[in-house]
Amino acid sequence: MAIILGIESSCDETAVAVIDGAADTLAARVVAQRIASQDEEHRPYGGVVPEIAARAHVETLAPMVGAVLSDAGLTLADMDAIAATAGPGLIGGVMVGLVTAKALAMAAGKPLIAVNHLEGHALSARLADPSLAFPYLLLLASGGHCQILEVRGLGQYRRLATTIDDALGEAFDKTAKILGLGFPGGPAVERMAREGDSRAVPLPRPLLGSAEPHFSFAGLKSAVMRAHAAGIHDSADIAASFQQAAIDCVIDRTRRALERSGPVTALVVAGGVAANAALRSALTALARSAGLPLVAPPPRLCTDNAAMIGWAGAERFAAGLTDSLDVLARPRWPLDPDAEPVRGAGVKA
Ligand code: KG4
Ligand code: ZN
Repeated sequence: MAIILGIESSCDETAVAVIDGAADTLAARVVAQRIASQDEEHRPYGGVVPEIAARAHVETLAPMVGAVLSDAGLTLADMDAIAATAGPGLIGGVMVGLVTAKALAMAAGKPLIAVNHLEGHALSARLADPSLAFPYLLLLASGGHCQILEVRGLGQYRRLATTIDDALGEAFDKTAKILGLGFPGGPAVERMAREGDSRAVPLPRPLLGSAEPHFSFAGLKSAVMRAHAAGIHDSADIAASFQQAAIDCVIDRTRRALERSGPVTALVVAGGVAANAALRSALTALARSAGLPLVAPPPRLCTDNAAMIGWAGAERFAAGLTDSLDVLARPRWPLDPDAEPVRGAGVKA
C-alpha cells in the first residue's frame, strides 16, 4: 500500500495532497488536499505573472505541507514517496515545488517522484474512476495545452492532435478579457453564456472538417474581438456564441481523432476546461454515438490540483518508477516526444 505526498506548483495554484494508492474509491484515495489559488494576486494584471506566482508558491507551500499532513493525521515518516510536478509549466513555480519535494525526500529518506503535470491531468480520470482501463482517448484541454492523445499505458502516449495556435482555455480567458469578465476567464464565460443566445453572433469554426484532427482558436478569438468592437451585440450573446463555436470545433476534432485512434475503452476529458458543463454534455453525446463511455473527473480534479500529481506518483511508484535527487525542472516536457511538429504551430508545447 502506497501513501504518497503530492505537490503541484506549475502555474497559479499551490496545492498539496496525501494520496492512498491502495484505496479503491475516489473519496478514500484522496486522504487530504489543500489548494490555494493566486487569483487575487494576478487579477490586477489580467493574467498569471510568473514572478508573482513563484513568490506566492514560496510563501504558501511549506506551511501547506504541514497543514495537509496534519489534516491527514499522518507525518512525513508515513509517506512511501514524495511526488511533485517537475514540468511543464512556469519554471519559477515548478522549481519551488520540485526543490521542496527534494528537501522533504532527503530529510525523510523517501524516494522522489518527478511527475509530468500533463500526465497528472491524463491520469486524473483513473483517480476518479477506478474502473477506467488503458488504452483510452484523452482530450486534454487546459490553459496552456489542447491535445488529443491515445493513452496506451503509464508513460505511453501517442499524440493525435494539438493546437496550431492558442489552447482552448486560453481562448476562454481571452474572450473573458475582451468582454471585461476578469480573471480567470473560463468559469466567467461559462456563467455568462448561460444567459445568452448561442446563435446570435455568427462566428467561425476554424479547421472544422479538416483531415488532421488539430485545433486552432486564434481566428475565433479575433472574431470575438471584432464582434465586441462592433458594439451591436449583447455580451451574453457573444459569450454563448463563442462557447458554442469552440465546442463545435472540439466535437468535430475529437470525432476525427476517434476515427484515427486504435481501439479504446473510453473517451476521457481532462484539464481545466473539462470543468465546463456545456463541453462535458456535448462530449457525452459524442462518446455515446461512438459506443464509448465518457469519463470526466469531477471539476475540482480538472483544474490544477495536487491529488492528480499524488495519484500519478502512486501509479509510478507501483510501477517502480522513482527519480534521483538531481532530476531537473523542465519548462517544456511533451507527453509524446516523438510527435511530429505541426505546420503552423508556434512555440507552445
Ligand atoms: O488545467 P488548468 O487548471 O491549468 C493549466 O494547466 O493550464 O486549466 C486552466 C484553464 C484556464 O484557461 C481556465 O479559464 C479554464 O481552464 N477553465 C475553464 C473552466 N474552468 C477552468 N474554461 C471553460 N469553462 C470552465 N468552467
Ligand atoms: Zn494543468
